Amino acid sequence: MLASSFFLARSEFSHTCCLPPRPARLTPLFKIPVVLADQSAELVAGARARIDATYKRSSAFKAKTAKDPAAAEADVAATLSLLTTVAAGTEQPGSLGAAFGEVDVVIEAVMENMAVKKAVFKALAAEANPSAVLCTNTSTLSIDEIADGAGPANAGRVVGTHFFSPAHIMRLLENVQGSRSSPEAVATAMEIGKVLGKVPVLSGNCFGFIGNRMLEGYGQEAAFCVEEGATPAEVDRALNGFGMAMGLFAMSDLAGTDIGLLVRSQFGCTDSASPFGNGRRYPALLDVIPNAGLHGQKTGSGWCVKPSLAEPRGPPSFPSF
Ligand SMILES: NC(=O)c1ccc[n+]([C@@H]2O[C@H](COP(=O)([O-])OP(=O)(O)OC[C@H]3O[C@@H](n4cnc5c(N)ncnc54)[C@H](O)[C@@H]3O)[C@@H](O)[C@H]2O)c1
Repeated sequence: MLASSFFLARSEFSHTCCLPPRPARLTPLFKIPVVLADQSAELVAGARARIDATYKRSSAFKAKTAKDPAAAEADVAATLSLLTTVAAGTEQPGSLGAAFGEVDVVIEAVMENMAVKKAVFKALAAEANPSAVLCTNTSTLSIDEIADGAGPANAGRVVGTHFFSPAHIMRLLENVQGSRSSPEAVATAMEIGKVLGKVPVLSGNCFGFIGNRMLEGYGQEAAFCVEEGATPAEVDRALNGFGMAMGLFAMSDLAGTDIGLLVRSQFGCTDSASPFGNGRRYPALLDVIPNAGLHGQKTGSGWCVKPSLAEPRGPPSFPSF
């Protein structure tokens, strides 16, 4: 059934997005009309500027080497014109905006917080096109609980579409089937992956799905190494040497160190009274950097093991831990 799709995941793309109906024939990335929504005109303008810059940067080489550079540039402009924006709640307080009534697919990417996600899905159930598939980009949260936000009549339309950062580069798309996700919603999510030239895989609904479930264990061990005296750069070098394309700490800077903290607090890990840890050691170091407001690429400071990615403004503060 899918007609259109879109991708997102990192902060520059991570906003609630909805896709207008159309196109008869789909062409790759960004040849699809997309509406991007965030909470205020200022946030929307910032996101729009980052998307434009990213897309122009990635198209610059193609334009330079094209036989007809003017036509290539016009193509970039035409592609970017397919992206429109809306500041949710500005038309009517508490409302998502009229654009949501006309889309085929919504991809929600608000912060990793169950209460916020459920509120957004409640609004989507009320305001989005009744036939739209409602996708969530959550990294770890339960699709079933998010679907509860949409209510029993709409839970079948809810499915996970977990993109990986940076979403315009990473090919894996981890789709997540909730217990009430309809076959149409799951098929749509899989088709989204194909249309975007990604590799869609289907996961069951569990903590961290596939990728982040694997990451959890080795992420904790990486943090323990630093707690015991290694530097984040040393740990990342070891991981690179082992064959990982990117170390754990560079990845945390790229994705945003705050996401892990949000996940750990959602699951009660940061609460010392919580039984979640089951008596196991907790890597408290991982909370120090985000709690200090160092959110990696989002704030320009973090673990800073790969300065070109993190563009650090100051020295990392982990040695004081
Ligand atoms: N950052 C990554 O690398 C990455 C990768 C995969 C998945 N994710 C997932 O994507 C989601 C977003 O993560 P992030 O790091 O981009 O978070 P973020 O905090 O950087 O961005 C969240 C955005 O959602 C907006 N928002 C919040 N409430 C809203 C509402 N009611 N309506 C519209 N917009 C609203 C915020 O203004 C903000 O722009 C999370 O679920 C996260 O787990 C992130």
